[in-house]
Amino acid sequence: MLAAVPAGSAEEALLGRVDFARLPRHIAIIMDGNGRWAGSRHLPRVEGHRAGIESVRAAVETSARLGVQVLTLYAFSVENWKRPDTEVSALMGLLKRYLRLELNSLLRNDIRFHVIGERDRLSREVCRELEQAEVRTAGNTGMIFNIALSYGGRAEIVEAARRLIRDGVTADAVDESAFASRLYTAGQPDPDLLIRTSGEMRVSNFLLWQIAYAEIWVTDALWPDFRARHLLEAIVDYQRRDRRYGAIASPPVEVGKA
Ligand code: FPP
Repeated sequence: MLAAVPAGSAEEALLGRVDFARLPRHIAIIMDGNGRWAGSRHLPRVEGHRAGIESVRAAVETSARLGVQVLTLYAFSVENWKRPDTEVSALMGLLKRYLRLELNSLLRNDIRFHVIGERDRLSREVCRELEQAEVRTAGNTGMIFNIALSYGGRAEIVEAARRLIRDGVTADAVDESAFASRLYTAGQPDPDLLIRTSGEMRVSNFLLWQIAYAEIWVTDALWPDFRARHLLEAIVDYQRRDRRYGAIASPPVEVGKA
């Protein structure tokens, strides 16, 4: 990681403050503000999405280099189907283009690509491209890159309940672990850190089960402006926090007793 960072840069200073022994295992990001970024430049909304691809690259590359185990990006929600057809098809086009351009880089960096969401609502062509990327990267053992597409947290929970019933799990055998193993993220650690761009304080139906104990970090930066520096700032801030999981705060150290 250090080799890729310019000497004397803000990134280098931030990297020096990262405790690599306490990295968040899973980082989830709500990418927001593409439309506002474009609007402020008098550009069509799709230009904001196009510019956001560079931020996707930065987030994926930086997380993988740092040694984060899982990165989940919220690219398209179930609610996003309500957007105009032209915007939806532009987003799908960008996704296909991203996969074609970045597949080799995912392979080189040992990244496993995984789609979460209601895939049957996506076009056959998009599904085929996504599946190809999943199959080609399936043997990779480094970071898992989940992309949430046609994703809704409530829908995922309902789907997990259906899977429990289909699997014939009896009411007495339903517990948190049986439930979690039927979510799209089965087998993955829950997000420790949830990042949202563009200053909005909402979780927007994202990973509702999995973010139960996540630390939330919100930046005013719009997604197309998001770079490695923001990710490092979020990690440094996360590492300053005292995660208690509902327990009491660690007792203050008494003076003279270390
Ligand atoms: C939110 O901005 C962003 C999205 C709904 C889509 C994010 C998609 C990309 C960055 C490009 C494709 C993704 C990949 C992984 C290749 P918004 O449109 O809601 O912005 P606004 O709130 O300012 O209107």
